[in-house]
Amino acid sequence: MKEEGTNLEKLDGKSMNIVEHNIGKLKELFPEVFSEGKIKFDQLQELLGNYVTEDEDHYNFTWHGKRRASRLAQTPSTGTLRPCKEESLDWDNTQNLFIEGDNLEVLKLLQKSYHREVKMIYIDPPYNTGNDFVYEDDFKDGVRNYLELTGQLNSEGKKMGTNSSSAGRYHTNWLNMMYPRLKLARNLLRDDGVIFISIDDGEAKNLRTLCDDVFGEENFVDTICWKKKYGGGAKEKYLVSVHEYIFVYAKNKVKLPEILVAFDEQKAKRFYKFKDENYKKMGYYRTHPLEAVKSFDLRDNLRFPVKAPDGTEVWPKRQWRWSKERFEEAFAKNEVIFNKSKDGEWVLSSKQYLNDENGEQRKTKAQSLIDDIYTQEGTKEIFRLFGDAKIFPFPKPTKLLKRIIEIGGVKERDIILDFFAGSATTADAVMKTNEERGYSLSCISIQFCESTDKKSEAFQAGYKNIADISKDRIRYVVKRIHDENPDYKGDLGFKVFKLDSSNIKRWEADFDTLEQDLFNAVDHIKQDRSNEDILFELLLKYGLKLTVPIETYTIEGKTIYSIGLGALVVCLEEDISMDVVNGIGSLKEELEPEIMRVVFKDDCFEDDVVKTNALQTLKRYGIEDIKSL
Ligand SMILES: C[S@@+](CC[C@H](N)C(=O)[O-])C[C@H]1O[C@@H](n2cnc3c(N)ncnc32)[C@H](O)[C@@H]1O
Repeated sequence: MKEEGTNLEKLDGKSMNIVEHNIGKLKELFPEVFSEGKIKFDQLQELLGNYVTEDEDHYNFTWHGKRRASRLAQTPSTGTLRPCKEESLDWDNTQNLFIEGDNLEVLKLLQKSYHREVKMIYIDPPYNTGNDFVYEDDFKDGVRNYLELTGQLNSEGKKMGTNSSSAGRYHTNWLNMMYPRLKLARNLLRDDGVIFISIDDGEAKNLRTLCDDVFGEENFVDTICWKKKYGGGAKEKYLVSVHEYIFVYAKNKVKLPEILVAFDEQKAKRFYKFKDENYKKMGYYRTHPLEAVKSFDLRDNLRFPVKAPDGTEVWPKRQWRWSKERFEEAFAKNEVIFNKSKDGEWVLSSKQYLNDENGEQRKTKAQSLIDDIYTQEGTKEIFRLFGDAKIFPFPKPTKLLKRIIEIGGVKERDIILDFFAGSATTADAVMKTNEERGYSLSCISIQFCESTDKKSEAFQAGYKNIADISKDRIRYVVKRIHDENPDYKGDLGFKVFKLDSSNIKRWEADFDTLEQDLFNAVDHIKQDRSNEDILFELLLKYGLKLTVPIETYTIEGKTIYSIGLGALVVCLEEDISMDVVNGIGSLKEELEPEIMRVVFKDDCFEDDVVKTNALQTLKRYGIEDIKSL
């Protein structure tokens, strides 16, 4: 809302409005269908021609509550993420995030800052077995509901129910929970991004159809079948079920690069057995016959004579696998082998080294079956980390996540997201991948503050909720890496944030309490909130990542925060003088950001004269975007 005269424009308190964002995109594509901000639908239909369906019978996957769930994804959050330095590790340097909260609200809050930033998402949601916790969204106030449930508004907390299979709407409840979350998660994926979702037969068919709906059938990549155990089954009457699935969808399959993974060591040893003078750089090699197998169509360019070491000409029986140019190139590099058969005939083969020209190990295609990693390994890992206690049931093995990360084609500084983090296996696998491959991947983990069962080993060991287990696991992993690899310089930290109500009272205005809110709005900022709380709320509003550098300057005794090297400057002080305003202008000249946005507290200037002059002065420095809280 822009106010008249010299007043500062007030910052809008909601998280990214997805409907507005999408309308903006539509406007870019079809400006002619807009009139006074509204869409002329018949004109849009005309432009879309044959792509419009009026056929009511076309295939449509729907269930009770789908529309409502879709709207829920589009309703902005009124919450914020509050930093919690005391529970974090290496706060100043780390790029990893651990966010405690309901993932729906958190995903909403991340929409602006992480829009198209995430290369890979892995999730292992509740499988809806009848015993697991399936969060019931509150359409009125998601943040308040979360705080109530987790006992953050009153000490008791509400009971967190399970989605029991005897309840009506059993599948519907699960679909309504998953749908808005997947929609929001898709927005965070990069164009070449990919999502992996674990599931078993209970909801596999619903999840496949749901994902076709959210990601588009054309972006389905494959189903990985994970053979998760090797034994068991004494109690089974029919088949011993030893598998589950991992669905793989691309954000945009056209942009997804080819999936290639490293050879597994056993296979490499089995196939690459020979050594020559190139061994140091190129590794072992294997051979392939140069004579083409029968099924190839005959082609003239693949029939030519080759000179053998004894000077004789060798012709293929049918044809070679290579053209003459390709053959000569390989011959020059000593990659063609001449052997004599029992009948004294020359037999030609080619060498294929394990490494490529740069000395890096050759990659291979990945298969859609994983049958060498077992669920028992995940349980053992938790045992080892938490001192022989069964702190978390059925965590995924880190090795499985490392394999998925590799299949995901993730590298260098990519971001990986897991919004059903559980015991933080993904964060663990990211740290291990960085350690082993020298990457600087970062991981965003989101986990509900789900309370542990009073009878569980976790509760007995002092863990009142799962998020505390996840954080401790990461700490243990970090300690292990420090102990085993003391010279390792990679990122071994994580920043903890917690979902809470907004820091700004006005941004939560509720019609039932509007009068009281207006009265309270004399000071908009909640009393128990720190400047840092406000800074991170601003980062989310302005779409800056939660890990951008924040620097503090003191100008004329007032604290000024420069975020993202001057992309955003925040001053939360009062009685601001012209000297401070000029100081901010000089900061722009010093830091030279492309654009600098400035946020002040409401009514922060010494007097109205300073306020009027401040706006003019900042504009003279090229600062146009000036807002108040
Ligand atoms: C199956 S577990 C994930 C296990 C994890 N892959 C591992 O290896 O430890 C699913 C987790 O999602 C969490 N969860 C369920 N609903 C959630 C929600 N709405 N927001 C955030 N986390 C949620 C549960 O607390 C549970 O820990």
